[in-house]
Amino acid sequence: MVFGRKREKLRLDPENIPAHIAVIMDGNGRWAQKRGLPRTAGHSAGSEAFQRAAEHLSDLGVNYFTVYAFSTENWKRPQEEVGAIMGLLDRYLHKAIREMAQKNIRLRFFGDLSPLSDSLKTLIAETDSISACTSGMQVNVCLNYGGRDELTRAARQLAQECVRGSLRPEDISEDLVSARLYSAGIPDPDLMIRPGGELRLSNFLLWQNAYSEFYFTDTLWPDMNEAELDRAIAVYQRRKRRYGGI
Ligand code: FPP
Repeated sequence: MVFGRKREKLRLDPENIPAHIAVIMDGNGRWAQKRGLPRTAGHSAGSEAFQRAAEHLSDLGVNYFTVYAFSTENWKRPQEEVGAIMGLLDRYLHKAIREMAQKNIRLRFFGDLSPLSDSLKTLIAETDSISACTSGMQVNVCLNYGGRDELTRAARQLAQECVRGSLRPEDISEDLVSARLYSAGIPDPDLMIRPGGELRLSNFLLWQNAYSEFYFTDTLWPDMNEAELDRAIAVYQRRKRRYGGI
């Protein structure tokens, strides 16, 4: 019901802003199809929604914002769509290089970047060097990322250390596993948001989301505005986090 719907700004508790928010940016394709546009137009609108969300979350005082931009499985999509997403990343990186210092944003990439184009790799290296000089919110872009792939790589690394003799199997701990993930040194997400109506994790941050609070919404990602992000945080602020305790 639209008539009479409350539209006032939500009051958030500034003392309980999630330090780390992760988002599965789902629903771009459907957003475009609903408008009779090609799916790639949905990704373009999704890229804008991502940039608006980053600004808003940074203003709220969120420290880490992690987004699922391209999964290890997304290569199965039509070549045109894959190319369009890579093009949007290229465009975003050029913009980020111009604006990161002024907006005080750090950028990191989680995933196997080896199959990316040389130009994307060069842009990423450039953002890495700018990130070394900025101190604000860190944006983690998951690119050619899969949670199982990340855990498999960590297991392989630990096994290699054991074979080399620098580690004993009995000394492998949760901390040592965490330290071999792309997210090493970063706190786990407090809040995981999935727009687009699907109720699944889709191989996203399988280890790191162990105790995250989940917020699911039917809103399609390009329509996720500041008000809906605030609603997700307000829901989070009402949750009691027990981490297995009582
Ligand atoms: C999922 O929606 C979205 C993706 C696989 C791509 C996300 C990429 C971007 C938003 C653009 C580039 C990112 C950055 C960080 C600049 P879907 O296509 O599966 O949607 P559907 O379920 O409606 O088909």
